[in-house]
Amino acid sequence: MIRSVVKGSGSALPKRCVSNHELAEKIDTSDEWIVERTGIRQRHIAGEDETTSTLATEASCKALEAAGVSADSVDIIILATATPDETFPATATKVQAALGIKDCVAFDVAAVCTGFLYAISVADSLLRTGMGKRALVIGAETFSRILDWEDRGTCVLFGDGAGAMVLDAEESDEQGILAAKLHAAGEHHDLLYVDGGPSTTQTVGHLRMRGREVFRHAVTNLAEVLTETLEAAGLSAADVDWVVPHQANARILDATAKKLGLDPDKVVVTVDRHANTSAASVPLAFDVAVRDGRIKRGDLVLLEAMGGGLTWGAAALRY
Ligand code: UT7
Repeated sequence: MIRSVVKGSGSALPKRCVSNHELAEKIDTSDEWIVERTGIRQRHIAGEDETTSTLATEASCKALEAAGVSADSVDIIILATATPDETFPATATKVQAALGIKDCVAFDVAAVCTGFLYAISVADSLLRTGMGKRALVIGAETFSRILDWEDRGTCVLFGDGAGAMVLDAEESDEQGILAAKLHAAGEHHDLLYVDGGPSTTQTVGHLRMRGREVFRHAVTNLAEVLTETLEAAGLSAADVDWVVPHQANARILDATAKKLGLDPDKVVVTVDRHANTSAASVPLAFDVAVRDGRIKRGDLVLLEAMGGGLTWGAAALRY
């Protein structure tokens, strides 16, 4: 059977790291509130010379290096982002140019925090149907640019960063993406959105969120989609070596693991260091856990995310 096998991963963070204490000097918040409600202690914020495409390119270079392959062997680039460099062209094409790839398929997907799950699922479909042999799948964001820094209810929650994976179409019964499930419930598009855009206000706009309601949907939807994905792969929670969740809130991670009966020690947590980096958070956390030796070849890894749309999804892969 043709499967999409993860050959390597990489990630990138802006140079500047901002602690809760530093934020508390500028807005009415405290380290205590942020840690207790979210688990976040710090986040990286892009400088003027750092953009979604520069972070995506850095993460991609590291992923290609880890995979031991050259950039010009990439057939497909899919970049998940809600903060593209410009409205168009797709930021994926800027990454293509920066990597020096002459010709390939390159496009962005927009599913906000679920973006990487959408991107990897699309890449998997394209690879299994022969559209290409090698895909570079990226999640990259500069959410700091769309935050309302006067709104303490949202601005403390997000950070910037990028993560990438190289996927190859390979003949394999064991390794690779075993199952992926995606969902959207557009009737909730106004729970988490940006109040601007080219077709409405002609401004970039700011992120708005009804956090408590998003939280409630997150725990239910994530537990359901993880169960659905495990069933589709013919696996149970006991088979899982690592869960790499979207890093929105430590309390969501705990509640979801509990609902599924998963050992919390098997959940990769980076929200304390990176905050919520939207589409970047899953590949970023995956890369951290690969590089620190937790995720090893042969491990069964579950990826999951939920975000604006509302959208949510999960994937099971054998690394
Ligand atoms: O990535 C996409 C998915 N996003 C998520 O999954 C986010 C889901 N939601 C959440 O994680 C949580 O709802 C939040 C962390 C956003 C908020 O936590 P909460 O426990 O739901 O707090 P809340 O919004 O209900 O606010 C509780 C109190 C309020 O004060 P009053 O009205 O009780 O006096 C807020 O004004 O906390 C206050 N508050 C703050 N206080 C200090 C809100 N933000 C802050 C802040 N510092 N930064």
